[in-house]
Amino acid sequence: MRIRRRQYSLDERRCVSGVLSRPCLALVIPGKGIFSLLGLMQRAIRLAYRGRFTTSPNPMVGAVVVDRHGTIVGQGYHRRAGGPHAEIYALRQAGPAAVGGSLYVTLEPCNHYGRTPPCSEAIVQAGIQTVHIATTDPNPKVAGGGVAYLRNHGIAVTLGELEDKARSLNRPFITWSLLGRPMVTVKVACSLDGKIAGWDPRDRYVSSPESLSFVHDLRRTHDAILIGVDTLLTDDPTLTYRGKGFGRDPVRVVLDSQGRTPNQANVFHSGSHGPTLLYTTQAASVQWEREMFSVGGEVIRLPADAAGQVPLHAVLDDLASRQILSVLVEAGATIHGAFLQANLVDQWIGLYSPLLVGSSGLSAIGSILSPSVKAEIIECKRRGPDLMVRAWLQALPTRKD
Ligand SMILES: NC(=O)c1ccc[n+]([C@@H]2O[C@H](COP(=O)([O-])OP(=O)(O)OC[C@H]3O[C@@H](n4cnc5c(N)ncnc54)[C@H](OP(=O)(O)O)[C@@H]3O)[C@@H](O)[C@H]2O)c1
Repeated sequence: MRIRRRQYSLDERRCVSGVLSRPCLALVIPGKGIFSLLGLMQRAIRLAYRGRFTTSPNPMVGAVVVDRHGTIVGQGYHRRAGGPHAEIYALRQAGPAAVGGSLYVTLEPCNHYGRTPPCSEAIVQAGIQTVHIATTDPNPKVAGGGVAYLRNHGIAVTLGELEDKARSLNRPFITWSLLGRPMVTVKVACSLDGKIAGWDPRDRYVSSPESLSFVHDLRRTHDAILIGVDTLLTDDPTLTYRGKGFGRDPVRVVLDSQGRTPNQANVFHSGSHGPTLLYTTQAASVQWEREMFSVGGEVIRLPADAAGQVPLHAVLDDLASRQILSVLVEAGATIHGAFLQANLVDQWIGLYSPLLVGSSGLSAIGSILSPSVKAEIIECKRRGPDLMVRAWLQALPTRKD
């Protein structure tokens, strides 16, 4: 039977294309519709995405259980770090109907005792016969263990269905697991000709309400927001999440080599419970460090780089050790340039306002990039009067066995 297969955007909200698929099996579920076998993994990915505000530092995972006749009998997703994994929710919902059935899961089931018991054991105990896994666990220490356990217990395991989509979903987790640093996104609000401020640095653009709401969505899906001290001194931002839906404040990070951040800065007085980390060097005074401490800031001193500034690699190493998987850089031209020169930017998000500033404006990137940085544009969208462009600057790392 030929059925129509659809391709969805990463957030699964929009159907971006529809093609006729190869002949394949389809499941007809009365009252629910038709699902191809591909659709079940698609559904698991969709479920996983529901955890995007709450799972970090864990990955997003979704799972679907079908019984021996192919009817969906259980589904679930990982909701928060420390809570039950997606497979457990799905198996609990399925109960005895899971016996002889199949499990579709977006990430290899865990095989170790962490904050929760191993899912691989629960799958065997539930009597599941076949497990479809979109992608293996990127963590070299655990990768393959779950698959081996299941196979050793007589369960048929297939790997790789919708793998690219499943990996894209957990880009921060994969970057953190394989590169030992958070995924870095630079977000820039600029004019159509790429200027982030006018001739007078205080002449800032005000993005449209649609763009601002998008920025707050970005803040709630990132673990940390990072700025340079000059943005703090010019704009005095609070760096909190002020969107409409549920969301937490990201950790605030300021790069300040000399200790110039004043204790009246809004980052300390926004009412947020999230920490504010100030990375500095030996050049900052002990008196300043005390002042920062007194208003709730945490000062981290690092050996200065060759330019006498905070070393970016060491900052990311320290953030990774704090289980920060994703960093949103909302800084100025200097910090953008420094991150790009160090080859540390994974994603670029530009919010382009419909105005032109000319050569007197402050460019979005304050460094010469040679060679130029190649980008793969993955999304362009109108946000009210503005244009949002999203691009990858780095390929997603893969595990080297
Ligand atoms: N439109 C937008 O999206 C947007 C967003 C943010 C800011 N802005 C605008 O951008 C302007 C500020 O930009 P900016 O370039 O002057 O400031 P910035 O990039 O926010 O901060 C630069 C400062 O960061 C510090 N820093 C610490 N470690 C560093 C490192 N490894 N490499 C480079 N810098 C390091 C340096 O000061 P020390 O040497 O003292 O540490 C440096 O002067 C303002 O006009 C602001 O309004 C626009």
